[in-house]
Amino acid sequence: MADYPIHDYDVLVIGAGGAGLRAAIEASNAGCKTAVVTKSLLGKAHTVMAEGGMAAAMGHVDDRDNWRVHFADTMRGGQYLNNCRMAELHAKEAPARVHELEEWGAIFDRTQDGRILQRNFGGHRYPRLAHVGDRTGLEMIRTLQDHGIHQGMDVFAEHTVIKLMMDGNRCVGAFAYDREKGRFITFNAKAVVLATGGVGRSFKVTSNSWEYTADGQALAYQAGAALLDMEFVQFHPTGMVWPPSVKGILVTEGVRGEGGVLRNKDGKRFMFDDIPDNYKNQTADNPEEGWRYTQGDKSARRPPELLTRDHVARCINREVKAGRGSPHGGVFLDIAWIKEKLPNAAEHIKKKLPSMYHQFKQLADLDITKEPMEVGPTTHYIMGGIQVDADTQMSGVNGLFAAGECAAGLHGANRLGGNSLSDLLVFGKRAGEYAAKFAKENGAGKISKTELEASAKEALAPFERGASGENPFTIQAELQDFMQDLVGIVRVEGEMEQALGKIAKLRERAVRAGVSGNIEYNTGWHTALDLENMLSISEIITLAGIERKESRGGHFREDYQAKSDEWAKWNLRVTKGPDGRPKIEKIPVVPLTDDLKAAIEEGK
Ligand code: FUM
Repeated sequence: MADYPIHDYDVLVIGAGGAGLRAAIEASNAGCKTAVVTKSLLGKAHTVMAEGGMAAAMGHVDDRDNWRVHFADTMRGGQYLNNCRMAELHAKEAPARVHELEEWGAIFDRTQDGRILQRNFGGHRYPRLAHVGDRTGLEMIRTLQDHGIHQGMDVFAEHTVIKLMMDGNRCVGAFAYDREKGRFITFNAKAVVLATGGVGRSFKVTSNSWEYTADGQALAYQAGAALLDMEFVQFHPTGMVWPPSVKGILVTEGVRGEGGVLRNKDGKRFMFDDIPDNYKNQTADNPEEGWRYTQGDKSARRPPELLTRDHVARCINREVKAGRGSPHGGVFLDIAWIKEKLPNAAEHIKKKLPSMYHQFKQLADLDITKEPMEVGPTTHYIMGGIQVDADTQMSGVNGLFAAGECAAGLHGANRLGGNSLSDLLVFGKRAGEYAAKFAKENGAGKISKTELEASAKEALAPFERGASGENPFTIQAELQDFMQDLVGIVRVEGEMEQALGKIAKLRERAVRAGVSGNIEYNTGWHTALDLENMLSISEIITLAGIERKESRGGHFREDYQAKSDEWAKWNLRVTKGPDGRPKIEKIPVVPLTDDLKAAIEEGK
């Protein structure tokens, strides 16, 4: 048995974004010895890409807002495939989580009378996003990090978990490697929380950085947990399209929340052409009313640029495909136009959207206070993920919890912008609380040394194959190319079948991936180890996409363009079948209670 360092914890949290840090804070506060393992540096998390704010019905800007409206908006945005209990808990608990964050030192923009300011965002009926300029996710991470390190948790930065360790049907720890030194390390834990984020790196154009390779989803699936709603991938309508080196970087929805409008190459606000029936009564049908809404006129309806993300992304896609796009394959997003309305527009834009101002100035040499941006859809988020209990966040595997983007349920078929940050706080807290409870009620499990040996041997195999093996970067790039083209915004059965064939071929090549060089900080090796997670979860996304024969939320099928009443009844669940292959089954959507039904009716 090689000499791998072993660390013992009550609660092990894998992932250090908003959900992971919030879970770790809760577990530490409950008196549990807690560790956070993060693939990246502490503070570098996709949470920072939720720039525009966190949704919480505090009613500071419009006192008609309350948890029932937020719940109804979330369900409608998710096209009623959401786990309604999670949507209820989220809407009820989000305001307390925001106030708590403020108590821990988070700075927010303020209303005239000094309360936390809230802004408009797509699909939210009232101004609901607590924000600090366009850096809200960053402020959240900074606060959780500062608060968290004083709770006594240990942090293992730049460590990647490659396997969850099991004792029967209980998760009892994890096996990881230190990216910098290349050494293996074992964590014994009484409870484990997965908070690893999403899958964006399996697509070519994405707002996700290199870490988001579907790790949590794959680790949980391999350990026997079920995945839910995996067909629902969110393409955020506005990412940068130019220059090529920055394609996919997020352009916050906050731009549209502050009055930014979308235009095609003919200068037309094309979003007015396509307002879905279920949003007609809430959506302005003329620019003047839309502007009044963004300025807080309570009698006005929202501009069509603030419809849900799935819809806006498809409209942009349509304009580009019809040849009405911008020079670099996007459309125009114009906030500079507000100078017609506001005397101090340039200052206002720089104050409300400082990161966007600098991002475009530095990366594209463009001044957004003077010129329109070019934007197009970017893979941003996955609504699907690990199936969890709504209250406790425990998966189907004992002792294994999940929170944040890697968990499923809250968002249904489409997530509303801003609901991710509040999701991380609400369910990160719950995961930490119940993981701590589980750890206290259960002794330490037993990790098999033989299994550790086998995992280490398997992980080192790419070095044995050396430079003559398949190049892991090439495999990753090919996957990204065809997932974008064949399983992207608009899907069709034949193309998804083609993607499955390509994934199968890449899997054959991935087991022959080889790397050379030292074990210390070897990014080729790291990529070789990421491949299995990316490929297996891409396969599951595609299989679920083929199975759902309708269009709903983030899943749009050219061959089944309508929503189906039959499919409205089902979530798709994927587990590892006895033959080791993904097994897909329909499970009934969680039924609404009478009170929740009433909240939805009130929302209509
Ligand atoms: O556009 C944005 O600021 C992203 C927010 C989110 O994904 O919640």
